[in-house]
Amino acid sequence: MAAILALNGSPRRGGNTELLLQEVADGARQAGGDIEIIRLSDLTMSPCIACGGCDRTGKCVIMDDMQGLYDKVQAAQQIIIASPIYFYALSAQTKIFIDRLQAMWSRKQLLRAAKRWHRDPLNRGYLISVAATSGLRIFEGAVLCVRYAYDALGFEYGGEFLARGFDGRGEIGKDDKKLRQAVQFGIKIVQR
Ligand SMILES: Cc1cc2nc3c(=O)[nH]c(=O)nc-3n(C[C@H](O)[C@H](O)[C@H](O)COP(=O)(O)O)c2cc1C
Repeated sequence: MAAILALNGSPRRGGNTELLLQEVADGARQAGGDIEIIRLSDLTMSPCIACGGCDRTGKCVIMDDMQGLYDKVQAAQQIIIASPIYFYALSAQTKIFIDRLQAMWSRKQLLRAAKRWHRDPLNRGYLISVAATSGLRIFEGAVLCVRYAYDALGFEYGGEFLARGFDGRGEIGKDDKKLRQAVQFGIKIVQR
């Protein structure tokens, strides 16, 4: 499994999130990194139903495509969550993925109680996000949510790559500076 797992939470093909993530992945690969990108909207994933099942087992009872992602999350050294801003927050696809990480938080609690939890200090998590407007606080909700998700996994937050003012499909592809910065971000993730 790939050392860097990247989740694309945008449903729009050829969209700004996808383009940015491709540039970040190019940078990561240039620096020798091994990265896998998964489009969350290609998967069938139900929202968390708060059944409490994972409290007892550390495993989610919902048998859908998230089951395959648990193994990938567990195997990843670094994770990138990429999402467009929808109503000052993450896309629904991204939020479903994050809520389903509750099972991994429960797993961590159970392992801790059994004194078998080992945090890997190299684990890092990142956020990539794009919004149409340039509001100062536009990414605050997304950053808080993603930071807390990484905290639940025991991953250190490594930082974010944010792009304001891009709305049309693939519009960011015309901004060479932003694309170059995204490549650099990918290189840094591997070289940190
Ligand atoms: C349902 C929906 C809600 C959105 N809400 C916001 C918003 O609150 N603030 C904002 O700046 N842009 C908002 N946008 C615009 C997207 O963030 C923007 O178009 C972004 O570039 C989309 O990324 P993508 O090309 O990867 O889909 C919204 C778009 C959609 C479809």
